[in-house]
Amino acid sequence: MKQAESQKPMAANLPLILFSLSLACSPPAETRPPGAKPDAAAPASAQQPDGWERDLRPVEATNVSTDPGIVRVRLRAAPTEIEYTPGVKTRVWSYNGSVPGPLIRAKVGDRVIVTFVNELPEESTIHWHGVRLPAAMDGVPGHSQPPVAPGEEFQYAFVVPDPGLFWYHPHVQSAKQVGDGLYGALLVEDPQEPQDLGDELVMVLSDMSLQPDGQLSPPDTGGDTGSLFGREGERLLVNGRTNPVLLARPGRRQRWRLVNASRTRYFQIALEGHAFTRIGSDGGFLEAPIVEERVVLTPGQRADVLVTPRGEPGSELPLRWVPYDRGYGSTFKVPEKRLATIRLSERAPVTNAPLPARLRTIARLDPAGATVQDLRLTSTVVQGKLVMGINGIPAGQGQPLPARIGQTQLWNVTNEIEFAHPFHLHGFFFQVVSAANAQGPLPAGPLEWRDTADVPALGKMSLLVRFDERPGMWMFHCHILDHADAGMMGELLLER
Ligand code: C2O
Ligand code: CU
Repeated sequence: MKQAESQKPMAANLPLILFSLSLACSPPAETRPPGAKPDAAAPASAQQPDGWERDLRPVEATNVSTDPGIVRVRLRAAPTEIEYTPGVKTRVWSYNGSVPGPLIRAKVGDRVIVTFVNELPEESTIHWHGVRLPAAMDGVPGHSQPPVAPGEEFQYAFVVPDPGLFWYHPHVQSAKQVGDGLYGALLVEDPQEPQDLGDELVMVLSDMSLQPDGQLSPPDTGGDTGSLFGREGERLLVNGRTNPVLLARPGRRQRWRLVNASRTRYFQIALEGHAFTRIGSDGGFLEAPIVEERVVLTPGQRADVLVTPRGEPGSELPLRWVPYDRGYGSTFKVPEKRLATIRLSERAPVTNAPLPARLRTIARLDPAGATVQDLRLTSTVVQGKLVMGINGIPAGQGQPLPARIGQTQLWNVTNEIEFAHPFHLHGFFFQVVSAANAQGPLPAGPLEWRDTADVPALGKMSLLVRFDERPGMWMFHCHILDHADAGMMGELLLER
């Protein structure tokens, strides 16, 4: 591929460009959309107050299979109207009429069969983010399958080999289609895991950009500046609800399974006077629980956290979204926002079962003999247009990285841009070896399996990945979907 003609770094234009970006945010509205009827109700907890999660209970998919080892679900993507503001019907895109789409529950080793019906006016697919499935089921048009045309169907069928929280979204015009409401969670449960970690709730975190008329902002709002910064919606959603109320029994542990499904927004969450105990991330449990004051999720990432709300019965704790510095201007005049409210109930406090000191063992990948790949996350202006890429090459124009089954590779990812990029690899988990921001190395986190990891602004991130028995073409890209669509995406060809 030819080098871009103008190599002018985007950073030179940033102050001017970003000055015109509206970073102002409106206060959280107290409304919540009625959404669609749940396909099924989530199991209630005996320990929490009645209806404790009613306000934010996820809509669940209906499993029509009678075979205990098979989960069979239908997902119909279609335009829908949801009332986010009283009296205003916002036109969104949804799976089965709800945003987020229904939560799919499976057990490790189950076969998941999803009939995807496309009733959108444009092509789409479903990508199963984080699931170690065959390349043919990965939902990438051109590599895995042809795109599913309007009015057509496609059947996805794969085994879920790993426990954890995963999610699904289109891989066609992802920024627009995800931004319009197409995303949902897939929870793979492990019947062997320790009992009673806490009363569990899946929370899909996202945002949405509503114009004054109550309709979604156009997907290209702000032009190239919008793409470079990434488009954040001013309305924060938890399972599609604005500032929902979660009832909590004081002292009783809750387990939150979080996924960040927004197209650009990082979620850094904090609960006044409380710390989180994080027990897992993208690829299941950590080796041991760690205590974190704040939990950060880049777009695409998941977190499995325990929280034990405490306080006076009747009092309220705000769950806050706290601005996260992901680069130029991302914290400038950005106020904190309320994400949800925890209301403490009157029920007598309880004590919780002790937490296991160890949750699992993760074998550290061996860098000795690993094949090294150097990747630079780049951004240039070509004939006045923003072009993002990897090693200067935009999506689809370069050669795929080569890999062999059984091989371990060390990827050194260097970020040449003044914005952080959440780097996502399809189909495989990796271990982050090191990370640095512009000031220097960052402290190492716990050993964990990730499929998405942050590369700080003007920083670096190195990862180790071992390629198992699933040949084919796999994508890697920035999970700020505006960046992926602007070209920050590459391919890996895994062969025998
Ligand atoms: Cu969730 Cu290719 O991404
Ligand atoms: Cu990016």
